[in-house]
Amino acid sequence: MRKVPQYNLEGIFSKSQKLKLHEICCYAITHQETIHYNLFLEALNKYGICILSLNYRDNSATFKQIIKNLGTLHSHKEKDSFLWNIKVLRLEKSTQPLARSHKDREFHFHTDCSYEENVPDYFALYVLHADQKSGGKNLIVVIKSVIGALSKESLKTLQSDPVTIKVPQEFYKGIASIQACIIDENNNIRYRREIIDSNHLTSKQVKAIGELERLVYSPEFCRGLILSDDQILILSNKKYLHARTHIKDPERHLQRIRFFKASPTIASTPSETKQESPNLNK
Ligand SMILES: [Fe+2]
Repeated sequence: MRKVPQYNLEGIFSKSQKLKLHEICCYAITHQETIHYNLFLEALNKYGICILSLNYRDNSATFKQIIKNLGTLHSHKEKDSFLWNIKVLRLEKSTQPLARSHKDREFHFHTDCSYEENVPDYFALYVLHADQKSGGKNLIVVIKSVIGALSKESLKTLQSDPVTIKVPQEFYKGIASIQACIIDENNNIRYRREIIDSNHLTSKQVKAIGELERLVYSPEFCRGLILSDDQILILSNKKYLHARTHIKDPERHLQRIRFFKASPTIASTPSETKQESPNLNK
């Protein structure tokens, strides 16, 4: 595959419009008020995005409670580990391959877990300590808009010609790679450029991926988003691509939970609950 141009995310962020959300996608959550999960689900089903602002801190109890009520949790390599801390680690502290969420460099546009057969529908980020030095800014792209601008030929290639996606070493669970189309028949996307096996791409695929990337990295389609302390972002991992600028504040700390859409069993749980009392001593 010919070398793909490197994009300057800071530059794109500065040229892009700020993300504007419909009011049904934004909620403030006050300590001990009733949480209306059905409203969050409605926003997610309709727009694929929801931002919740907590007016208190409770060491992730509310975060975990909300996501558990919205779907089925996606676990990491270790069974039952669904909460992931996103914090820059010093290299000397680890002898294992570091997940890129533990590094400070920018993330180009991608979806999460594109190397898994069954990709989680959503991911949620909870901000414990936002970057105080103007780093770690988020960019998102609605894939539906990009698909509308793709040539028919490229869309057909992305939807019908599978690529080989390599499983990153740090997430290896016994399968080295999978075959999948970048865009499926329902216009869901899975994409992370650096783990696509470029040696097995046809010229048609190289052309289609190049066209996709030129659109994705255009300020016309990118929207900028800066999350503050105690905010939770829930984003569709199939309808949006997301990116992040370089982290500048070593204290930046987020938590992430990925999840699948609620199964019929989970959907039958009460649509709202009284919030558990936060444990401030933890
Ligand atoms: Fe990600």
